[in-house]
Amino acid sequence: MATTRRIAIFPGSFDPPTLGHLDLIQRGARLFDVLVVALLRNTSKQPMFSLEERAEMLRGISAGTPGVEVDVFDGLLVEYARRRGATAVVRGVRNSADLGYELELAGTNRHLDPFIETIFLAPAGQYAHISSTLVREIASLGGPVRGLVPPAVEPFIEDRRHPGRVTRV
Ligand code: PNS
Repeated sequence: MATTRRIAIFPGSFDPPTLGHLDLIQRGARLFDVLVVALLRNTSKQPMFSLEERAEMLRGISAGTPGVEVDVFDGLLVEYARRRGATAVVRGVRNSADLGYELELAGTNRHLDPFIETIFLAPAGQYAHISSTLVREIASLGGPVRGLVPPAVEPFIEDRRHPGRVTRV
């Protein structure tokens, strides 16, 4: 009997990926056959890390999790999800402040394509306070980011502080 692969998209800016993102990648990967971590190419925000750096960081942190792919997308998320054959979008909700925006996003995506379901996942409690915005702020002020980002992301932050001094492997 033919089986259908369940594919979900985990979209975002990932500037940079955090331990919270990694926790959600691992949770999402357990629920679907394929979880596509999809990096938005064009955003109005001026990112701290280039698209290539963010893709490299995401590949590095998700390498040990089976069923995870990293990709870059442009344009409407639902159109990308359809092209990939995905039936779901995974989004993380850390607290009630996230929920309003996430419901708006989910409602808009449902309006655009009622067949793509949004699944909200809560990260583990110890990651609920972590955001890429605060990591960028700490990084730009020279503070420690250990315990906020996966170890594979730390050299990228260090490299931004002292360009050329750190060799990534
Ligand atoms: O990590 P972020 O910045 O919260 O991710 C936001 C993202 C990438 C999920 C959202 O901006 C998005 O899906 N953009 C693609 C354009 C789109 O489909 N917009 C209509 C839905 S509101």
